[in-house]
Amino acid sequence: MAKRVVLAYSGGLDTSVAVKWMGEEMGVEVICVACDVGQGGTDADGYWNMIRDRALSAGAVDAEVIDCREEYAADYCVPALKANALYEGRYPLVSSLSRPVIVKKLVEAARRHGASAVAHGCTGKGNDQVRFEVSTRALAPDLEVVAPVRMWGLTREQAIQYATRFDIPITQSKEKLYSIDDNLWGRAIECGEMEDPWAEPPDGVWEMTQVRATEPREVIIEFLAGTPIAVDGSQISPAGVIERLTDIVGAYGWGRIDMVENRRVGIKSRETYEAPGALALILAHQDLESITLERDVAHEKLRLEHRYAELIYDGLWFSPLRQALDAFFEETQRHVTGEVRLKLEPGVCRPIGRRSPKSLYDYGLATYEAADSFRHDDAEGFVRLWGLGVQTWAARQG
Ligand code: ARG
Repeated sequence: MAKRVVLAYSGGLDTSVAVKWMGEEMGVEVICVACDVGQGGTDADGYWNMIRDRALSAGAVDAEVIDCREEYAADYCVPALKANALYEGRYPLVSSLSRPVIVKKLVEAARRHGASAVAHGCTGKGNDQVRFEVSTRALAPDLEVVAPVRMWGLTREQAIQYATRFDIPITQSKEKLYSIDDNLWGRAIECGEMEDPWAEPPDGVWEMTQVRATEPREVIIEFLAGTPIAVDGSQISPAGVIERLTDIVGAYGWGRIDMVENRRVGIKSRETYEAPGALALILAHQDLESITLERDVAHEKLRLEHRYAELIYDGLWFSPLRQALDAFFEETQRHVTGEVRLKLEPGVCRPIGRRSPKSLYDYGLATYEAADSFRHDDAEGFVRLWGLGVQTWAARQG
């Protein structure tokens, strides 16, 4: 029996050519696995049928579509939300977060199909190859990893010619111009005009954040122990919350990111993202934490959030440090329960109110009105001792 390889199939040009190429050049049987992490859009069924057919016409011996949306949302997006994870303070890790769940499914498929290798369609210049390979090594060190796109050295034009020669169906339009990766948590758009960091991204690159609403409105997000459970009073699954907020907030044209980021492989790259749902959730979650986390916990958590985002970005989702950090974040979330009101206007999304049954906000302590319960006399001695060290320093050495 020929060697079998399970390929993470997206339906794009590179992975479609990879199916044929691995068959021709390596003599292997290719099984395509497409993971639905929410990139199907509104006609998801039609989309996935088309992807499956395309894999088979490209020469796959078998093709599977795996619906990972709920698992992705609950086990990857929600932990990232609890950690307010933003790489370099801005990027909500859209692609970085989806790779580990995809690898988990690839490895399971490899076992089911008796494959000895998994394959991906990443180039040698990006972060995604790192995430695919490091995650595979963590979950299944016995499996080989094949990276056809990194091996073949075809230009985009040559890949298109290869596809034409073997009758591999491809969509030409946008794929020619941009490299796009999307899932529930957001959408990454790179290449084309954007390779010039000075050039404004053309309006046509945005999908989730095209302005469709003009009337200001509010949206209320409810959290239970750090997990979002409802939008405007209706309870939905984590995937449902993300989808709904992407739709509601994206309609106001909010949630775009334009940055030059530091890739793991040492390249600075100009990236544009849209992630209205993820960014609104993080904004609301941070806000709820402002009334539910004790000060030291909040400050320590901030420092670890940055580390956590970096770890996920660097492909170390399946690592002992990520697990340990998750345990810390989980503990901090015990009382992050309550609601946040966001106000939406064209181009704007901002918190305008928050409340929690576990709130540490004490009106009596905070108020300047008659209900004030703060012991003002305590302040004098406290402040004197607080400043004692610098006072002594100033007198003797300052
Ligand atoms: N720069 C982002 C990251 O490393 C996005 C990568 C997008 N991937 C893609 N194939 N277009 O997470």
